[in-house]
Amino acid sequence: MRGLVFVLLALVWVMPVGAAELPGPEPLDDAACIGCHQETTVTWRAGPHGKADGAGCVSCHSELHDAVGSQARQEQSCVECHGGEHGAAAHSYRTSKHGVIATLEGAEWDWSQPLNDANYRAPTCAYCHMHDGTHGQMMSEDVLETSCMDCHSPRYVETLFASGRRTLAIGDLKLAEAEAAFGDNPEPKFIQMFETMQSKTMRNLRLGIGHQSPDYQWWYGHAALDGDLLRIKAAVSLDARKRALGEK
Ligand code: HEC
Ligand code: HEC
Ligand code: HEC
Ligand code: HEC
Ligand code: HEC
Repeated sequence: MRGLVFVLLALVWVMPVGAAELPGPEPLDDAACIGCHQETTVTWRAGPHGKADGAGCVSCHSELHDAVGSQARQEQSCVECHGGEHGAAAHSYRTSKHGVIATLEGAEWDWSQPLNDANYRAPTCAYCHMHDGTHGQMMSEDVLETSCMDCHSPRYVETLFASGRRTLAIGDLKLAEAEAAFGDNPEPKFIQMFETMQSKTMRNLRLGIGHQSPDYQWWYGHAALDGDLLRIKAAVSLDARKRALGEK
């Protein structure tokens, strides 16, 4: 009798109802991943990577099932698409304390472990953007704020986020001042200068705050916005003086 119960228990343990099998060692493609991981696929489709020109499972995870976790958690799985090693997304991260720690110590971390503070001393890209394996919302403030609190106190994080919002608001003021400078004279060259200020310099500032990089908050952020603003004002005033002379 006892033997029978043991055999039944063993069977239940070995073959849980409805469990999918692990794939073999051969390389896999996106269609295979999607076939077995339908729940993850639903959230992936809802996010930026699930769009037609986004990122498939294999581009983050690897084609080999043994490496799917360890590859996706490392910085390399993201930077190739996000501006390359020297692009602003990767560079702002590397020049943060988190990036410096990961660069110095990452080779010794066990990347097969889930992303939490017991396994990693400092966060990599996926730790913040894909906390708890979220495949949909990559930029949610709630997710980012809670992922910071794995390692920092709530008060520290709230103070940082509040100061980040103020820093961004000052950036918006500089943009508004630049726009007002050529408001009466919307020449294509001024609009182009303004658009670069908006898409490149202001993005540096956002990355500086999000990635906690002093270089990007200051040199590539606020100091560069000041430079852009001065150049736009100078160009507008030069243009006005030329026209005044021409009109005489
Ligand atoms: C034949 C079905 C099957 C295929 C195909 C498959 N998986 Fe899995 N996968 C599984 C099973 C079963 C598990 C273990 C389930 C668990 O632990 O909850 C798993 C676990 C995982 C995990 C968690 C591993 C970890 O280290 O945390 C990831 C990530 C994953 N799969 C991604 C993928 C990706 C990406 C592909 C395509 C390259 C893929 N899988 C293809 C069945 C499959
Ligand atoms: C942008 C990169 C990226 C893409 C694209 C991506 N994943 Fe993931 N995925 C990750 C990361 C990083 C983790 C690990 C999160 C952790 O350790 O907490 C993960 C975790 C998982 C897990 C285990 C946790 C869970 O959510 O169940 C599965 C399964 C998985 N991915 C499957 C897929 C499949 C299937 C696709 C394609 C439909 C896909 N992933 C696309 C980066 C990605
Ligand atoms: C195969 C290319 C590819 C890979 C690999 C990839 N991404 Fe993306 N990612 C994209 C594209 C395309 C978009 C949507 C367009 C955009 O917003 O830049 C996107 C969007 C995002 C966004 C939202 C940006 C925004 O402005 O809303 C974040 C954050 C992001 N990815 C982080 C990551 C992280 C973290 C990883 C690694 C775990 C990763 N990506 C891997 C191509 C990729
Ligand atoms: C996995 C743990 C971990 C997570 C998650 C994490 N950090 Fe950190 N953070 C650290 C460590 C470790 C340091 C370095 C502390 C030291 O030795 O100065 C650090 C340093 C910092 C610093 C620099 C402090 C200084 O003295 O220069 C800031 C700012 C910061 N983190 C903000 C954040 C924010 C904001 C988030 C979420 C978006 C976050 N951290 C997520 C571990 C983490
Ligand atoms: C400490 C947490 C953390 C880490 C680590 C991290 N990010 Fe971010 N990332 C953020 C936050 C916060 C933002 C700003 C969100 C916002 O502006 O709403 C951001 C913004 C972004 C953006 C959007 C920039 C834009 O166009 O506005 C991209 C893309 C991105 N990160 C990619 C990456 C990549 C690639 C890595 C690794 C090299 C990485 N992140 C590492 C927290 C992090």
